Amino acid sequence: MNNSHKKRDFLGFSHLDAGKIIELFDFSLFIKKQRREISDTDYKPVNGKTVAMIFNKPSLRTRVSFEIGIHELGGYAMNLDGRSIGVNSREAVEDIAQLLSRYNDAIVARLHDHHVIEALAEHASIPVINALTDLSHPCQILADAFTLYEKGLWHDNIKVVFVGDGNNVANSWIELAGILPFHFVLACPEDHLPDMDLLNNARKNASSTIEIVHDPMEAAEGADVLYTDVWTSMGQEEEAEKRLETFRNYQINSGMLRKASPSAVVMHCMPAHRGQEITAEVMDGPQSIILDEAENRLHVQKAVLVKLLNHDEYRKFHLTHRLQNVARKLNS
Ligand code: CP
Ligand code: NVA
Repeated sequence: MNNSHKKRDFLGFSHLDAGKIIELFDFSLFIKKQRREISDTDYKPVNGKTVAMIFNKPSLRTRVSFEIGIHELGGYAMNLDGRSIGVNSREAVEDIAQLLSRYNDAIVARLHDHHVIEALAEHASIPVINALTDLSHPCQILADAFTLYEKGLWHDNIKVVFVGDGNNVANSWIELAGILPFHFVLACPEDHLPDMDLLNNARKNASSTIEIVHDPMEAAEGADVLYTDVWTSMGQEEEAEKRLETFRNYQINSGMLRKASPSAVVMHCMPAHRGQEITAEVMDGPQSIILDEAENRLHVQKAVLVKLLNHDEYRKFHLTHRLQNVARKLNS
C-alpha cells in the first residue's frame, strides 16, 4: 500500500514550507474547478483506496467533507465511531494503528489529546490526517487560507484578526504563520492564551508578524479578515457558563466590523453560536465568507488526500502546471 513514496502524515504544517502550501492551494483550485466542470468525472486518483475515519468528538463539516471527498476521488471511507473503538481504553493506540495499517490506506482522526494522534501516526505505516485535536485543526486553517487565496485576497501583509479563545483553531493559524508570511493578531482574554510552544516556534519565521493582544476592538482596526470560533470548544462544556462571561466582549458584531478595513471579510470555522461569538447580522451579512470556507474544506482535503495517497499524480499535476506557466511566459 502507498509504496510509491515515503509515508507522510498531515498532523500540522511543520513538515511543509511556503512553496508546498501554495502547491496544495493550486492543486485545490484544480480539484475544485474540475468538480464544477465535470459532473460525472472519471478523475479517480485514489481509486480503490480505503480510509478509516475515527471520530472521538462530534463533527458535521469534517466528517461529511472527508466522506464525500474520498468517495469522489474513487476511494471508500469508513466512519468508525470513536466510542466503539475505544482508543487507549478498549485497545492501545499502537495496536489500532498497526491493525488499521493492514486493512486501510489512510486514517483520518479527530481525537482529544494531540499526543495520541502523534502516537497513531508513529505506529501506523499509512498516512494519518489530523481532523482536529485539542491542540490544532490544520485541515480547517488550510481551507481558510485557501479561501482567501482563491479570492485573490492573500498577500504577505494580510491582517488576519482572530477574536476569541486561544484554542485549537487559533493555534493552527499561528502554526501557519510560522510557514506562510502574513500578519496574524489573536485578541484573547489574558487567561486564554494559545499554545506557547507553537507560538514560539512560529515566531522564528521572521517574515510573519504574530501579535497576541487583549483588546478586541483595538485589534480589529484595519483588519482584512475578522475570524472567530466558539468560546467553548468540544470537551470544555463544563466551563461554558463561565466562558460566556469571560468572552462577553470578544464578539464579532457590526460595531467591530466598522473598525476593520471597509473591504474586510468575516470568517468562522463553524459550528457557530449566533449571538455569542458572532451576531447573526454579521454572519449572514455581505462581508461573510463563512460558507465558502466551509465548502472549501471538501476541495482542500481532497487535495491533501491525493498528495498523501497518490503522490505520483500530485507530482504530475505540478510538473504540468509548471510547464504550462513556462509556456505562457514564453508566449507572452
Ligand atoms: N469546522 C469543523 O471542523 O466543523 P465540524 O466540527 O462540524 O467538523
Ligand atoms: N474550537 C472548536 C472547533 C470546532 C470546529 C472545537 O474544538 O470545538
